[in-house]
Parts: sequence; structure tokens; C-alpha cells
Amino acid sequence: MCGIVGYVGREDRCVEVLLEGLRHLEYRGYDSAGLALQRPDRIERIRRVGHLENLERALRERNGDYSRVTTGVGHTRWATHGRPSEENAHPHLGGSGAVAVVHNGIIENFAALKAELEGRGVRFDSETDTEVVAHLLEERVLAGAGLREAFAEILPRLEGTFAIAAISMKEPGRIVAARHQSPLVVGLGEGESFLASGIPALLGRTRRFLLVENGEVAELTADSARIFDADGRPVERGVFEVDWDAEAVELGGFESYMLKEIHEQPTALRATLAEYLGPEGEVDLSPAGLSLADVGRVVVVACGTAYHAGLLGKTYIERLAGLPVEVSVASEYRYSDPLGDERTLVVAISQSGETIDTLAAVEAARGFGGKVLAITNTRGSLITREADAVLLTGAGPEIGVAATKTFLTQISALQALALALAAARKTLPEDELLRLGRGLRRLPERVEEALGLAEPAAWKAAGLFEEARCALFLGRGPAYPVALEGALKLKEISYLPAEGYPAGEMKHGPIALVDERCPVVAVIGEGLLREKTLSNIEETVARGAPVVAVADPGDRQARRVSRLLLPVPGDDGLLGPYLWTVPLQLLAYHVARARGLDVDKPRNLAKSVTVE
Ligand code: F6R
Repeated sequence: MCGIVGYVGREDRCVEVLLEGLRHLEYRGYDSAGLALQRPDRIERIRRVGHLENLERALRERNGDYSRVTTGVGHTRWATHGRPSEENAHPHLGGSGAVAVVHNGIIENFAALKAELEGRGVRFDSETDTEVVAHLLEERVLAGAGLREAFAEILPRLEGTFAIAAISMKEPGRIVAARHQSPLVVGLGEGESFLASGIPALLGRTRRFLLVENGEVAELTADSARIFDADGRPVERGVFEVDWDAEAVELGGFESYMLKEIHEQPTALRATLAEYLGPEGEVDLSPAGLSLADVGRVVVVACGTAYHAGLLGKTYIERLAGLPVEVSVASEYRYSDPLGDERTLVVAISQSGETIDTLAAVEAARGFGGKVLAITNTRGSLITREADAVLLTGAGPEIGVAATKTFLTQISALQALALALAAARKTLPEDELLRLGRGLRRLPERVEEALGLAEPAAWKAAGLFEEARCALFLGRGPAYPVALEGALKLKEISYLPAEGYPAGEMKHGPIALVDERCPVVAVIGEGLLREKTLSNIEETVARGAPVVAVADPGDRQARRVSRLLLPVPGDDGLLGPYLWTVPLQLLAYHVARARGLDVDKPRNLAKSVTVE
């Protein structure tokens, strides 16, 4: 969370590049934003609470001449220490304004460092942990150290997670940055250099990057970008070329990123499956660099939506490959003294590849010698560097804070993994595996169909939520994780309390919520569980709930019990979860829009959760 950006180079574009970078990083946090710009006689700082547009307006009102500024850093904040306020907004300055710092992460020992600095007479202007870094750096710089040297001196004293960038009055035209756990990339240009928390922030300017590793320090000038290890030795780093195009991070005619990304799901699935499935449905995970021989057990670790994908992965892997699968919320797993052995395959799912709890869960699994497979959408992200093997999803950049296309692509990667495990373990005959693989290849068209069916119905169903005070999402078997995901989508963007529950468990508590103002969204599913789900729905109808059923349009029983039907194409049993998810994403979207909310930037959330 929080986004940082830096630019050094041409005099006519520093502010423009910083603001453009922050616009693309705003999904990481939007409590406040700020810039520090190097002027000949001072560091000019401007900060505003709230969305980036407030900062942009303030810059316009200041009417300053920014055409001669060549060097600056910027920040967009997701508050950790200190409420969202101008004093707590970054950049932070040392006491005499000679050094400005932006930071993403948490300095865990900031209280001790602050007490020490206060003991030396330093006055603090904010409640943030970051300000200690500004003072520590400035002390060294005023004592005569260069900025890079100052970094090298203070870094061993910082505990926690960070990506920090700083500029100093004593060294115009230079930015120094360092990282430990939080992400940081350097962008390479002609006569200009960039840095940012994520590649998408710089895609409008460059496709050539240097990835900064844990413990390294980067030093940027207009003509050079160099990386040093913790002992100050230069590091040779290959250039990382990115093929995402800049348009992928633009709206392209949609009213929000979330809506655009929901509609991109067929393309995202096509790109993902093309990597791992041949034309005849043959699965090939060799691009991941993965050996599946000898896997005895699978553990999935993930957070939020990725955790829901993991629950579906369990269904696929257990059903197809007959392997036991445990799915854990990463923040619990990391502290659970997990059990396992070297035959345990640990699947870590994270679209950003940055989630600190998921990274820590991977580390915990290392303790018992587990092999780690990362499923991520972000090439070059931290998790790809921690894992033994990587399954990349091809969703392209996801900007809307609520995960949509990355969820479906994660499930498809898990299903490909289940097929590969089944092939390695010979749990299914070859022709059956090929049949399932061919079915999976048809998924993008089926999701297209689901989008076409769901769009008008989801908008209509949102009307049932006008007076709602809460909502219950029910499902059984593979429809249960879909219900969890539907509830998460609704609550995170519409702020309506929503619970996802196994339909059969509902009468053990949540049924007490049910009345006319608590709509029930039921994912009906197929087979035996369908009948049982229908009975559970009847119980809510009897208590006055307006029911929205996610079901085949020809399902007469579903129509009978529901006030409204969200139609989905029929499925062959394995593709259902993808198809049921689409209308729930659109339902959440329309409920939030009807409430006038910003669906792309829901309050209190951030796209990458890089703090514990
Ligand atoms: C919900 C959502 C979050 C993320 C979670 C994990 O819409 O986006 O619940 O799924 O924060 O993030 P990643 O996948 O980046 O590890």
C-alpha cells in the first residue's frame, strides 16, 4: 500500500511524470498525496488530503512555474501510522528541509528511533513512522555524508518493510532509493530516469526497467541508474523489458476500471489458458518450471479474493488429482507453525505478488522444506522471486481495487494445475484429461456468454438492494466459494454488510438476519447440491427474504423461489464457478453505482496490501 514515484531528467516534464505516475499508483492508497520538488534554493513540498485530484487542483492554484524542475518524488498514501491529514501526508522533510523522503511500508521500530531522535532535540511534525527516516537521513547528510552513503548508514537500523526514496538539497539532480520487502522498480529513459512502486505507473514513459531486490539501493540521475548491494558494491542487473502496452492501463471508453476489467475476462482467460493448454486440451505446465512428481499434499495460501480462488482450487485438485488440499488464509498460516514436508506443494496465490502476509506464509512453508508454486498476475513481482516455480496469469494490469479478472484467471490456473497433477498421478484416463482440457479451452466463450446474459439482469437485480441493510450470499459445494466472493465484492464496493455462507449452515445462525431488507443471493449450482440449495432458499423465502437466484434461465424451480433470476449459461460441472461469478461481480458493481460510490477506489482499501 502507498505508492511512491520519482523522476530525474528533463526540466519540462518532472511534475507531469510524477502526477501521471501517482495517477496509476492511486489504487494503492488514496488517503492523501504529495510531491517534493527540488528548487535551486529549497525543496518545495505540496501535499493534500484525499484523492490525487486535490493535489492537482492545489498545484494549479499555486500557479507556480514548474517548468525548470528536473527532480522530484511523489507519494500516494494509505494511512498506517497517523490519520489521513496534511501533516501526515508524504513527502516528509528533515528538520531543516534539506532532505525529503517518501515511503511505502512500515518502520516497525519507529517509536524507539523517534525517542532517540527526540533525545537529540529533533522536533516531529507528524504522527508517521516515516518521519524518522527523513530525520535520520538529514542528520547524516548535514554531517557531510552523500545521500547514498547516508542511506547505507541508516538502513541497518530500520526494521519492518519499506521502499524509500529521497532527494537532498546537497545533491541536486539525484534520487536515492532502497527497498526491503516493499516493491520498487527503476525505469530507464533517454536523459531521464524514473522510479516507482509498480511497473504500470511508468508504462506511459518506458518499457525498460531494473528490478530492485531486497536490501539494495538504487541511485538515479538523468543519465544513469545504478544499483548497489547492502555493502555498497555495484550490482549488475539485466534490463527487464515489459510487453504490457500503456493502453491496458487506460479506461478505453468504460466508465470505470472495474467494469472494463469485468468485460476483459474472456480475453484474460484466453491469454492465461494459451500458456498452459494445447489446442487438443493437453496441459503443459513446463513454462512454470514446475515438477509435480512426488507431490504428496497441497497447501494453498492466499488472502481475500485469492483465498476464494484457492478454495475452488481445492475442489479441482481433490476431485481430479485425488490429493488432499488445505487452504489457509495467509495471515493465519504464517503464525501457525505449519506442518508439512518436502512432498508438500505450497501454492501461493497473489495477483499483485506483493501481499506481505502471503510472502510470509511462503517463508513459513520454507521452514518444513515445502516446494513453492506462485500463481500471480505480476511478472517480476516479489513472489515470483521467492517461489520455486511460477504460473503467470495473463489478466494484464488490474487497476480497480476490487479483484475481478484476476480472480477468474487464478481459478483457471488452478484448474490447469489440477489437470497437470491428475496427469502426473494418473488419476484419470488420458482421453478424459484431454476432454476436460478441451472444455477448459472453451471457457473464454462461455464467460462471454455469461457476460451477455448477466448485464441487464444484474442492473435490474441491484434495484432489490435499494432499501437493503445487509445481504446473504448462499451456495453449496463449489458454489460456496463463489458466494463468499460475491459477498466480498458487494461489501467492499457498496459498504453493505454482506455474508457469504454455506447454504446448509445458514440455519445455524445467519438466518436470524433474514427479513424483507436482507436480500438473499443464492448460487444454485447443479446435481444433488442444487436440490438441497433450493430447500435452503425456501427457508429464507418463508421469512420474507427477496431472493436473487443465480441459475440457468430454464431452471423453473429457481424461478419459482426467486424474486429475480440472474441467468447463467448451463455448465458441465467444472466451469460453473466462473460463470456464476460474473453476474455477482456485475451485481456488486450496479449496487455500488446506484449508491453513487467510487467503485474503483472503495474507501479504506488499497490494491496491494504490503503491510501486515
Ligand atoms: C478483493 C481484493 C483483495 C485481494 C487481497 C489479496 O477484491 O482484491 O481481497 O484479493 O488483498 O491480494 P493479492 O492477490 O494481490 O495478494
